[in-house]
Amino acid sequence: MFTSNRPVRQVLIASSHPLFAQGLRSLLQARHGMDVSVVGVVSSLSEAIAAIDRLNPDLVIVDYDDQALNRDEFLARFVEGEKKLRVVLLSLQSGGEALVYDRRTLSASQIDNWLEEWTLSEQSSKGSQRNQADGLRRNLEKNAHNRSMDMKRYVHLAIAAVLVVVIAVLLMQVLTVSNLLPVAASEQAKPIDSLFDIEFKVISFLFSLIIVFMVYSVVVFRRKKGDTSDAAHIEGNTTLEILWTLAPLATVLYFAYLGGASLADTLKPDDFPLEVKVVGQQWSWRFIYNEGQADEFQTTELILPVDRQTLLHLISNDVIHSFWVPEFRVKQDALPGGEDFVRDLRITPNKVADYKVRCAELCGTSHAFMESPVKVMTKADFDTWFASQTGESADPVERGAKVAQLFACTSCHSQDGSALIGPTWKGLFGNEIKLADGSTVTANDEYLYESITNPNAKIHDGFQPNLMPQNFSTTMSEKQILDVIEYIKSLK
Ligand code: CUA
Repeated sequence: MFTSNRPVRQVLIASSHPLFAQGLRSLLQARHGMDVSVVGVVSSLSEAIAAIDRLNPDLVIVDYDDQALNRDEFLARFVEGEKKLRVVLLSLQSGGEALVYDRRTLSASQIDNWLEEWTLSEQSSKGSQRNQADGLRRNLEKNAHNRSMDMKRYVHLAIAAVLVVVIAVLLMQVLTVSNLLPVAASEQAKPIDSLFDIEFKVISFLFSLIIVFMVYSVVVFRRKKGDTSDAAHIEGNTTLEILWTLAPLATVLYFAYLGGASLADTLKPDDFPLEVKVVGQQWSWRFIYNEGQADEFQTTELILPVDRQTLLHLISNDVIHSFWVPEFRVKQDALPGGEDFVRDLRITPNKVADYKVRCAELCGTSHAFMESPVKVMTKADFDTWFASQTGESADPVERGAKVAQLFACTSCHSQDGSALIGPTWKGLFGNEIKLADGSTVTANDEYLYESITNPNAKIHDGFQPNLMPQNFSTTMSEKQILDVIEYIKSLK
């Protein structure tokens, strides 16, 4: 430990008992030989101060059991005072063992060196054989002691582990039962709620892990009455440090993946969503249906059909607002700045009920009151409401007749069975139709849809291709096409 090329260590002994100084001197001599040199012995604080200035020792060893010396004063003077010096309080009285009482000025490894040195060399003057036997006996006792310490440690760990699991499960129950989230009323709420579910579980476990270990330590390992000893010095644990770095890293990465996947789920588009423009302004919401079309209309409450995706186009007239219906879970800012700053939000309500949209972005004095009703209706109720707003009939057949006129379908397709440029619609639906290529096809919904959007696909026997406009799939809305089909079906 102390190699010969090290400088000689200067030790000052503070004790009023000559025997202490003598014993310590011979101990140091036996153990360290020329490496350690006792530069002086003092018996009071004032002597020590004078000796330190004069001799500049590396270490001051104070006789812990010396009543004549005030060891607290010593420590106050040398440990906390202006002269930073290594001071060790040493007792040679307790059952043949050397005890070092104060470690404030030595590093852990230094103190361990000192302890080891003292313990093993303390009886070296009594002959090396006796010393070896003693050392062996002490080692055996030490091992037995260590084993029982290990056992105790495992018992503590086992109790703490059981407590962690129990508290975590209880917390999970509490979080589940206490209904922290409002009712989930949209398809987009599902991935978000399952994410919440996993997060609540992990939160419960982590909370339990930290609190149980902390409270257990505070209660079980609290200082016992009369115990003035120092706690064990622990240097660190590489395995533990690697573990508690990698485990949170893996957890956070896993949640990043789950978050990304859930976000993608909430953005999934459906075919033919209902499109509604949402205008936020201080401090109200406005909803525009059929934007840009002849039958555009506006409302101050948002009416949505159940089980059909609504694609909201959000915009603001002034500052940033945020569209939020907690039951739908998803949320989106409405930004000022015009058409370039339109933001989309997809919601597929799945429960018929009344909700409320609120603004989730601080936007001025009445931000808290920026609310509007949201009503989710059955498809039939929604259609009726929608028709009443546009002034159009709720009956698809009636609407289809109008569309057929509007797009001039009826100038080529009769409704009374007479043949014009195109086949008549009367009695068409459900018929077996002979095609120009000699095959037959049933005039069902798919056939009618295809014949409107792609007229040359199947040419009715006896009629010419390319006479019908090829672009109804873009000029007519999906709804208009379906309405026309309903009208054709009604012509029996
Ligand atoms: Cu708009 Cu807050």
